[in-house]
Amino acid sequence: MFNLFNKDKEKKESANQPVTLRIREVVKETNEAITIYFDQPEPHLDYKPGQFLTVIIHLEGKEHRRSYSLCTSPYVDPFPGITVKRLKGGLVSNYLNDYMHPGKKVSVLRPMGGFITPYHSAHRHHYGMIAAGSGITPIMGLIKSILINEPESKVSLLYGSRSESQIIFFNALDELLQKYPDRLQVIHQLTQPGPDWQGARGRIVAENLQSFINELEQSDGLITKYFLCGPEGMMELSKSALQSAEVPKDQVISESFYMEKKETLSNGNESALAVTQPVTVILEGQSYTFDVTPDKTILEAGLDEEIEMPYSCQSGLCTACRGRLLSGEVKMDEDAGLSENEIAEGYILCCSSKPKSGEIKINIE
Ligand SMILES: Cc1cc2nc3c(=O)[nH]c(=O)nc-3n(C[C@H](O)[C@H](O)[C@H](O)COP(=O)(O)OP(=O)(O)OC[C@H]3O[C@@H](n4cnc5c(N)ncnc54)[C@H](O)[C@@H]3O)c2cc1C
Ligand code: FES
Repeated sequence: MFNLFNKDKEKKESANQPVTLRIREVVKETNEAITIYFDQPEPHLDYKPGQFLTVIIHLEGKEHRRSYSLCTSPYVDPFPGITVKRLKGGLVSNYLNDYMHPGKKVSVLRPMGGFITPYHSAHRHHYGMIAAGSGITPIMGLIKSILINEPESKVSLLYGSRSESQIIFFNALDELLQKYPDRLQVIHQLTQPGPDWQGARGRIVAENLQSFINELEQSDGLITKYFLCGPEGMMELSKSALQSAEVPKDQVISESFYMEKKETLSNGNESALAVTQPVTVILEGQSYTFDVTPDKTILEAGLDEEIEMPYSCQSGLCTACRGRLLSGEVKMDEDAGLSENEIAEGYILCCSSKPKSGEIKINIE
């Protein structure tokens, strides 16, 4: 069943339509990571530090979408850039590392994501940044933006990498340290350092986190706020260390790039409906009703009907497919991308939701 109430399905200007960006420069950050800078499109790319672009690549006749965080800040960097680290065996990350060059055009979705913070010159905050590997990417944009916009705020970064040569943005961070010696602190921690390394060694573990958090919590008269981005294990440890230090949850913002898949719902799972169910999605004011079979998520069923529902990671992390449930109930397998407030306000992720009960209506803005 497919019912398009507004018959005129002419492609109108839509926030969810891809835009084409032209590569201006490709910078090799390490032997495993590049930063791709784009020319500013017209009108300029409107993004918040910490957000990501969804890159759309066609390989072997198939479309692939991946999220890559912007490492730049619109307050200081004239050109937007994303940093892509190779993943062993990874399709898109290796393709981008191998084949991007100035002049090449890349299709992306508009910037999205909630790994952001408001800025004000009157803020007196101490930002605790905890990153590892490519997790430094969105944090880099945030650090630059805080330092330029909030003269009374401080930033401390705890940053894990494998070895000296694998530290993404080592020089850029060093330049910021020279420029803001009293307001920026960077603690590099390496798992496989060379013999001359003087800094911290080993994985970021509970002890490192505790001392890092304790130091921040003693900041005189500054309000702390934490941003976490890195492997799942490090994020979990960081969250429990912050909880032990009684840091309120609303002062902690995290972004996951990847999560081991949980056991997904089998068709016979009692929580989701084991029958085909109609679902209505309102997308930028247009209403679409389509059937969702028990083996599909709401996003998969919508895409099968060629409805241009927004999506990127398809694993419940990036929130590109976020919608608000207006009626009915869904079973959401993965909600890691949503904050507690968003869940309380009725937001769901279409890529990991299946119909559960009632007349399901979802509004996607
Ligand atoms: C919001 C968001 C922002 C992101 N920002 C960045 C960024 O700034 N820079 C960056 O390099 N990446 C970033 N990522 C990750 C990126 O989107 C891709 O997932 C990553 O590049 C792997 O894609 P691939 O096509 O190379 O690998 P795939 O071909 O998709 O995966 C190959 C195999 O590796 C597994 N896998 C996928 N990702 C990971 C992972 N991270 N760790 C371990 N195993 C994995 C898959 O399950 C699969 O088995 C971000 C992801 C999200 C959700
Ligand atoms: S597509 Fe990323 S959360 Fe659904």
